[in-house]
Amino acid sequence: MLKTQLQTLLKGLAYRCGFSLRKLRGAKRFEVTGDRAGRVRPLLHQVDPYEGFDPTAWPDDASGWGSDSPAFGELIAQVRPRRIIEVGTWKGGSALTMAAGLDEAGIEAEIICVDTWLGALEMWEDLDDPTRHGSLHLRHGYPTLYYTFLANIVRAGHTETITPFPVPSITAAQWCSLHGIKADLIYLDGSHEEEDVYQDLVAWWDLVREGGVLFGDDWSWDGVRMAVQRFAGEQRLSITHRHDKWELRTP
Ligand SMILES: C[S@@+](CC[C@H](N)C(=O)[O-])C[C@H]1O[C@@H](n2cnc3c(N)ncnc32)[C@H](O)[C@@H]1O
Repeated sequence: MLKTQLQTLLKGLAYRCGFSLRKLRGAKRFEVTGDRAGRVRPLLHQVDPYEGFDPTAWPDDASGWGSDSPAFGELIAQVRPRRIIEVGTWKGGSALTMAAGLDEAGIEAEIICVDTWLGALEMWEDLDDPTRHGSLHLRHGYPTLYYTFLANIVRAGHTETITPFPVPSITAAQWCSLHGIKADLIYLDGSHEEEDVYQDLVAWWDLVREGGVLFGDDWSWDGVRMAVQRFAGEQRLSITHRHDKWELRTP
């Protein structure tokens, strides 16, 4: 009992001083077992996630942040991806812009959307914020944002291209590593907290195919910028910028 209390006290003190066990242990890198061709959806869903879903009961609102940036179309035309992974999808705005970019470039590709659809920290900070917390549309205390996302994809007619993967970012990266799933474009727009962004960078970087790009949003957020700079420095990568996005390119 005393030992547990002492451990909790020490952990609390260490946390306040800027240490965390995660930091001390280092970020997790997952071994990548290969680079599998073909579609990911059958490996994730035995039943089509859109089957029998009625979009009319859900808000017709695909708003996001930086989700209609011209950076998506430019990168798609340049890299010509066969697979895209998005981490942080919200209502699907950025995924839909990428799906439209694929159509425009005449590319058949799959977009895997990784999100818990439970909201990031900033969506729980102010319960009176209609854009962030309000969009979670809690039912019995639990977000129903996922259904707004599904409805947006159905309405836009992109159900063939976009596949939801409703798990935390690190779990998805681990799953991709286990299955040898890499992507040509990986878009990071999940948590914007520095340690989380750093963990995401470490987890997803090895899953970018050769010639591919890891890119993300919100360079103006301290947490994002500091994590990207830290990771790029450690890996000796140059950070480039395209419109409102930052980019890291594989050699
Ligand atoms: C800024 S929003 C994404 C906006 C979207 N890309 C757009 O442009 O419309 C961030 C999203 O990341 C998700 N998220 C935050 N942390 C996550 C994590 N660790 N794993 C999975 N999803 C996460 C939240 O649920 C939220 O939907």
